[in-house]
Amino acid sequence: MGELGVKHLLGIKYLKESDVQLIFETADHFKEVINRSIKKVPSLRDITIANIFFENSTRTKLSFELAEKRLSADVINFSAGQSSVRKGETLIDTVNNILSMKVDMVVMRHPNPGAGIFLSKHVSASIINAGDGAHEHPTQALLDSYSIREKLGDVAGKNVVIVGDILHSRVALSNIFALKLQGANVKVCGPRTLLPKYVESLGVEIETNLRKALNWCDVANMLRIQNERFDIGYFPTTREYTQQYGVNKKLLDSLDKEIVIMHPGPINRGVEVTSDVADSKQSIILNQVENGVAIRMAVIYLLASKIK
Ligand code: CP
Repeated sequence: MGELGVKHLLGIKYLKESDVQLIFETADHFKEVINRSIKKVPSLRDITIANIFFENSTRTKLSFELAEKRLSADVINFSAGQSSVRKGETLIDTVNNILSMKVDMVVMRHPNPGAGIFLSKHVSASIINAGDGAHEHPTQALLDSYSIREKLGDVAGKNVVIVGDILHSRVALSNIFALKLQGANVKVCGPRTLLPKYVESLGVEIETNLRKALNWCDVANMLRIQNERFDIGYFPTTREYTQQYGVNKKLLDSLDKEIVIMHPGPINRGVEVTSDVADSKQSIILNQVENGVAIRMAVIYLLASKIK
């Protein structure tokens, strides 16, 4: 088994293509493990992991916790809302207090971009970024690419369009880095106001016409409209957004070919995709969630092997 080139997983930006392939090969093994009747391995019995979440989460939090338990790690969970952060304790003090309980690894979600990078410079534990503001969400991008590889055999050479709120999306940025690293062709599609000016410098093309984008792609990754990060109105109304950038079954069925539909969740049903698209045979949304556990087991296992 090889070794990752990084001590922390702070963003896809810091990975090499060989790191991604190592994570996928390790995830293949763990996916087989979690489909056995005994879904647990004793690999990390001597490792303690703290999941610290300063923002809400369903999929990422539960998936990390399950991945850690499947690897037999000891796990502690911390939610900022019920903690002394509310009394003014700083991030470094909070984490150093947690680390003094002999914690080896920290999985952190934080609303501020760069929070994981900041932490990695001030504490000795291995840090996994579980989403930092509008910056990166590396394990989401890994599980997304892994799901494309599983469905289509490979990521290299595939046409992938990321649709919607690119401006506020850590999922979009991490996916762009991951897909480009693996040799996919990437377009972004959405209202001009939600496409950052620098996006073409990342090697992606802009297509503002959804039908054209869908007819070009093999895979459409439909992003959630992140109203909680909007400080101004980026489009007139949600109804008009859906008319131009939402995918419904009629549109899907009228395309030149059968494409794969992805969504990182949580879905605004009826906004980015209608229910008959989200629940259709072309959708791999729940496969993404299932693959999240194997991918996170692989990332934790590989990073833990660098601690020992
Ligand atoms: N995809 C994702 O990050 O979902 P959660 O916010 O529920 O973790």
